Amino acid sequence: MTSWLLKDVRPYGEGVVDVRIVDGRITEIGPGLDAGDAQVVQGAGGVLLPGLVDLHTHLREPGREDAETVETGTLAAALGGFTAVHAMANTDPVADTAGVVEQVWRLGREAGWCDVAPVGAVTVGLGGEQMAELGTMADSAARVRVFSDDGKCVSDASLMRRALEYVKAFDGVIAQHAQEPRLTVGSQMNEGVNSSLLGLAGWPAVAEEAVIARDCLLAAHVGSRLHVCHVSTAGSVDIVRAAKARGVDVTAEVTPHHLLLTDDLACTYDPIYKVNPPLRTQADVDALRAGLADGTVDVVATDHAPHALEDKESEWGSASPGMTGLETALAVVVDAMSPAFSWRTLATRMSETPAVIGRLEGHGRPLAVGEPANLTVVDPGRSWTVDAAQMATRSSNTPFAGRVLPVRVVATFLRGKPTAGPA
Ligand code: DOR
Ligand code: ZN
Repeated sequence: MTSWLLKDVRPYGEGVVDVRIVDGRITEIGPGLDAGDAQVVQGAGGVLLPGLVDLHTHLREPGREDAETVETGTLAAALGGFTAVHAMANTDPVADTAGVVEQVWRLGREAGWCDVAPVGAVTVGLGGEQMAELGTMADSAARVRVFSDDGKCVSDASLMRRALEYVKAFDGVIAQHAQEPRLTVGSQMNEGVNSSLLGLAGWPAVAEEAVIARDCLLAAHVGSRLHVCHVSTAGSVDIVRAAKARGVDVTAEVTPHHLLLTDDLACTYDPIYKVNPPLRTQADVDALRAGLADGTVDVVATDHAPHALEDKESEWGSASPGMTGLETALAVVVDAMSPAFSWRTLATRMSETPAVIGRLEGHGRPLAVGEPANLTVVDPGRSWTVDAAQMATRSSNTPFAGRVLPVRVVATFLRGKPTAGPA
């Protein structure tokens, strides 16, 4: 029997208690608990949250182990406070068969830093033409429930409709990367004043909004569940809000970087700020924050997208889009959302709701006796300077290097086992 006593923590930022963990579950919560023969971990008044859950992580294995592996990416996740991540399907080979999703799931189990829920591709090879064997992936050991061609949009309306219909059989969800391809040919950054000044081809807001509107109509038509990846525009928030008001079963995510950064940064021509969808305007950032605060945007998802140096350190036009984010996500969200956000709301948006959308068992559960001890401790007074060289992710493409962030994850527990922090 392994037992731990987590001393002096504040669940959801409330009063100080101790938490006893026996065999991976919370068995007692209260002030001044007796340690007995438990190993003691000092929480030092830190905020206790349910372990974070990411709906959108690129782990790059198989295929681009030079940029990230399941091992390095999940260690980065644990250090960022995550106890489960959904691994996107745009690997090489693509995660479009039971064999590949089982491989990624098994690598996650072997690494042991956090649970890995593989996302299955919607179409074979992300080709956008032939539906992948979604049912086989759902029935596999990886129990896939989230399907996405992320990186690419399922732009064929008929195929999208059939995929939405198909996943109903096993309570799955299609997570759409909303980008109308014909409206974004050659695009390099947000279409607006800055793209005109810089002479770079624009990625207009309507290319995202048109697909979200269409997909909300399709989801309503077939009575299925739709999740919208990384919404980035004020108009997208409005469309999701209107669809929800009409009873459409749609959820949406926003990334930490879209909550904090704007397309003014493209004026540096530094490709560290190149990402897809692109950074938008301050008005979009404001609308995304308001949407996240009022629940129109259900969750924060990192879109952690590690890239090797040679893919990122080139001129803007040829650099790969993407930013790392697992190790900075919680602190960036606190920075962007305070003081509007309570710790409880943060737990809802970064743990509870993502676990529900992904149909993950044992994660995103309340901090209560009997629940699995998937936990995160945050020091709300510990500001820190982001140093790309100090991160566990194998890639260094963080847009937050040198930035001072206000809070820090100090410990993470996966089923009672410390995966990051002082223990
Ligand atoms: O910036 C991005 N990077 N957006 C995506 O949709 C894909 C991702 C990647 O895989 O690098
Ligand atoms: Zn995407």
